[in-house]
Amino acid sequence: MELVTLQEILANTKKEHYAVGAFNFNGYEDAAGIAQGAAAARSPVILMASQGACQYIGLYETAGLIKGIAKKLSVPICLHLDHATDLDFIREAVRAGFSSVMIDASAKPYEENIHDSKTIATFAKDYHCSVEAELGKVGGKEDNIVVEDRTASFTDPAQVPRFVEETGIDALAIAFGSVHGFYKSEPKLDFDRLAAVLKLTACPIVLHGGTGIPIADIQKCISMGLAKVNVGTELKAAFSNTIRKMCAELPKDEFDPRKFLKPVKAACAAIVQEKLEAFGSAGKA
Ligand code: G3H
Ligand code: ZN
Repeated sequence: MELVTLQEILANTKKEHYAVGAFNFNGYEDAAGIAQGAAAARSPVILMASQGACQYIGLYETAGLIKGIAKKLSVPICLHLDHATDLDFIREAVRAGFSSVMIDASAKPYEENIHDSKTIATFAKDYHCSVEAELGKVGGKEDNIVVEDRTASFTDPAQVPRFVEETGIDALAIAFGSVHGFYKSEPKLDFDRLAAVLKLTACPIVLHGGTGIPIADIQKCISMGLAKVNVGTELKAAFSNTIRKMCAELPKDEFDPRKFLKPVKAACAAIVQEKLEAFGSAGKA
């Protein structure tokens, strides 16, 4: 299948009470594992590469890899540039064939965030590409972006309608208690804030920092109308832990890289399949 946009992949989420999982990858093994997990769950899926991951793999290489993976799959795949702050880099990703991009101008003042998000949404309109933006600041560490607890800030629902209307974005990431990376203490989501945002806009809402949030809490958000759930750290940990395990288990004279890397694919696939089933999107593709 050809890559699809967020607009296409999230179209039925609210009506049918499910969310689509969005998973970060950093190379071939985790990307292929994500696709494998989605195929096993018969679910649509969003594969996300951060700006840093794209710089590591190469922007055109990333697009080529995921287009290739999508070609032989019968479930819809969206390739999404995650948490990008550099406008020129985002434009290049759109040209490279990403079917979705996130402009993360959440560190900037409201008016500047609107300006940058609108600039990208306007640019992407000429391509088969959707745009996600962030309002409020999700705390924690996501790749190169570090938001200290004291500077993280929850989304003000009153700012949402104008932001969505003026920017013309296709999905909105909000801050309501989730954090990027592993949680230092038990996550506490502000469900009332989510409800207030959902009441004020029809724009699909995105939860960032999905790692470590109890599934029951995520399912509650989905039943309220959440459309997209981002998970990154859990897959990174599975990748690294699997490599550590294989280094310990394989004979010391083993030098075939695939013996070390193949189990990574399986580990990522298992996590993704389980998440997609929990998010209610299994069987929707
Ligand atoms: O944008 C990516 C996600 O928000 C990942 O968050 O690494 O805490 O799961 P996480
Ligand atoms: Zn995020």
